[in-house]
Amino acid sequence: MPDNAPGPPAAVLCGLAGWVPPRVVTNDELAERLDTDDAWIRTRTGIRSRHVIEPGQATSDLAVAAGRRALRHAGAGSVDAVIVTTTTPDRPCPATAPAVAARLGLAGTAAFDVGAVCTGFVYGLATAAGLITSGVAERVLLIGADTYSTIVDPLDRANAIIFGDGAGAVVLRAGRAGDPGAVGHFALGSDGAHEDLITVTAGGSRQRSAGGEAPLRDRHFAMRGNEVYRHAVTRMAESARASLAMAGRQTDEVDHFVPHQANLRILHSVADDLGLPRDRCVANLGSVGNTGAASIPLALADAVARQRLRPGDRLLLTAFGGGLTWGSCLLTWPELPPVPADPHDRGDETAS
Ligand code: UT7
Repeated sequence: MPDNAPGPPAAVLCGLAGWVPPRVVTNDELAERLDTDDAWIRTRTGIRSRHVIEPGQATSDLAVAAGRRALRHAGAGSVDAVIVTTTTPDRPCPATAPAVAARLGLAGTAAFDVGAVCTGFVYGLATAAGLITSGVAERVLLIGADTYSTIVDPLDRANAIIFGDGAGAVVLRAGRAGDPGAVGHFALGSDGAHEDLITVTAGGSRQRSAGGEAPLRDRHFAMRGNEVYRHAVTRMAESARASLAMAGRQTDEVDHFVPHQANLRILHSVADDLGLPRDRCVANLGSVGNTGAASIPLALADAVARQRLRPGDRLLLTAFGGGLTWGSCLLTWPELPPVPADPHDRGDETAS
């Protein structure tokens, strides 16, 4: 199908924003309490600093800040659905999205959470696209928000260095597959046989029905980083290829590869595997770390703020996370008004 063909119904990106909390934690600050150092963290992950919430703040606070900005950016007073994708909801029950919607002045609007850990944003895009193309919604606000600082053991050096808190949001509207901004060609997958690789064991029905107090370590986030690393590279590359194949596109037609910001080495390995030059890989994890479901929209907002994305550019979004889950989709960059810069992000892009 030629570009700009009207095509079948599709969800079209029309608003974008990111928000990270003001407090910055540098690698040196972490090294004061952990047996680690700045050089190890930079070399192994590409991360220099991350943002964390203040005591008492929650995921919804970040989600509301990003959501409000995305709505303003889209010039949208209202939407027909609000989706929040997060691994760190404000409470186990209810979902975080209704509270976020109400605080955005959208009480009465359909609102629900999507849980796919770090793949949440791509799963959320597919869900939003489904609502739009089925005619259930004309406009959807999708917010990826996470506060891993609330579940990672601050003394766990392997995980405390990776994660940061943040939120990113997009507004999608009803349009056509040939419109700039149309998202599509979703290639999603999961393998629950590996649920123990990335997990918070306690707090759910299995632990609660067993009774008794869960040990502290089971209430913290646990990740077998080394094994996850290998799965991440394989699954991200596979799903990226599947998405391109669905669209009948070749890798060299991708202008920007926008992966979940897991670890710079992972991002480069996937780019290498796909045969994509590393400088086509959008990476902002140097200053924000791995922000879970927020990482892809935060990376997009950062790339727009640097004027790196031009209308008509072809983007490949790819994510991987707990579950295990993974997913990719394609997006042609639309003409958008400037995305307001996040005053809290120093925005020093990670060198490729
Ligand atoms: O977002 C969802 C998906 N998440 C990911 O994709 C994350 C995937 N995994 C990773 O990013 C990496 O596996 C980590 C950054 C978590 C770890 O890096 P690694 O290069 O895989 O290190 P490793 O686990 O193989 O550990 C190597 C060594 C170990 O020491 P020994 O056993 O060789 O003596 C660790 O104890 O590095 C040690 N180590 C550290 N040393 C200094 C682990 N964490 C640290 C640290 N500082 N923070």
